[in-house]
Amino acid sequence: MSPPDTEVLPFDDAGIARAAALVLAGQPVAVPTETVYGLAADATNAAAVARIYEAKGRPSFNPLIVHVANLAAAEQLGLFDDTARALAEAHWPGPLTIVVPARPDNGIALLVTAGLATIAIRVPAHPAMQALLGATNCPLAAPSANASGRISPTRAAHVLASLDGRIALIIDGGPTTQGIESTIVAATGGPVRLLRRGPIQIDAKLSSGGIEAPGMMASHYAPQKPLRLDATAAQDDEYLIGFGGVAGDSSLSETGDLTEAAARLFDLLHQADASPKSRIAIAPIPNDGIGAAIRDRLSRATAPRG
Ligand code: TXA
Ligand code: MG
Repeated sequence: MSPPDTEVLPFDDAGIARAAALVLAGQPVAVPTETVYGLAADATNAAAVARIYEAKGRPSFNPLIVHVANLAAAEQLGLFDDTARALAEAHWPGPLTIVVPARPDNGIALLVTAGLATIAIRVPAHPAMQALLGATNCPLAAPSANASGRISPTRAAHVLASLDGRIALIIDGGPTTQGIESTIVAATGGPVRLLRRGPIQIDAKLSSGGIEAPGMMASHYAPQKPLRLDATAAQDDEYLIGFGGVAGDSSLSETGDLTEAAARLFDLLHQADASPKSRIAIAPIPNDGIGAAIRDRLSRATAPRG
C-alpha cells in the first residue's frame, strides 16, 4: 500500500464527517483529546487496529485504551463494580482511564487488549473526540498519535511532523489543554491500583505492573502452552499457526500479509491455547515493518514467566 497524503482539516462538521467515513472504512485518523492527540481506529475492526501499529511503527503490541461516549457505552464493554462506577461518575468525561474486566463477547478486537482479560476504557471530554464517537457510533481504540519513540503530540503540527504520509487525516482542534496522557487506574476487584500517573490525582498505590490476578498479567498476555517459533512443520503434539507458505492448523495470513497477521495474532494464539494439542508452534514471520512487533510479542510469549 502506498502511503496516503496526510490531509489536515479543522475541527468542524465537515472534518468530523470525513474522519468518520475514514474510520468506518477501517483507517486510523488523528484527533485531539483533552490530553494528547490520539490515533483513533474502530476498536471492533482488528485490521483497522493493526493499521494503528503500522502507522506508528510501534515495535511491540501494548494494550490500547478504548474511548467511548459515556459510562453506559463503557458498561457494554467492561464489568464495572461499585468502585469502578464511582470513579467513572466522579471523573468522566475526563482524563481518567479505568481498567476493568472485559465483558466476554464485547466485540472488541483482541489486538486492542493484546489478548488480556481486562480492558482499559476512557470517556474523553474533548468535543472533537466526542464528535467522532457520535458520528461513527463505534468504540475507538486510540494510542497517542506519534511515531514510535517520539513524544506525545499536543498539537496537529506535532502529529504531522511524525506521521506525515503515514495516516490519511489529522483533525486540527488546536493545542490540547492537559498535555499529558490520562491517569490510568485498575479497578478489577480489591483496592484500586494506579497504573500510570496523569492529570487526575487518584489516591491509590502505584502498581509495579506485576501480576494482577492469578493467570492475568498486568500488561502482557501470553498463552498457557509452550510456544515454538520459526516452525515450518508441526510435531505430533503441536498446534501449528501458519503464515504464507507454511499452512498449519490455521493461518495468520495465507497470502503472507503482515497487517492481516497482526490483526489475527491474538485470536489465533487463543485458538491454539484452547485446542487439544499441548504445545503451540508458529511459522517464521519476517522481521519487516509490523512483523517486528509480531516477533517481539511472540518472543516475549516464549520467555519464562515468574
Ligand atoms: O491520554 C491518553 O490516555 C491517550 C489519549 C489518546 O487518550 N492515550 C494513550 O494511549 O496514552 P497509550 O496507548 O499511549 O497508552 C495506553 C496505556 C499503556 O501504557 C497500556 O499498557 C495501558 O494503557 N493499558 C491498556 N490496557 C490495559 C490493561 N488491560 N491493563 C493494564 N494496562 C493497560
Ligand atoms: Mg504513547
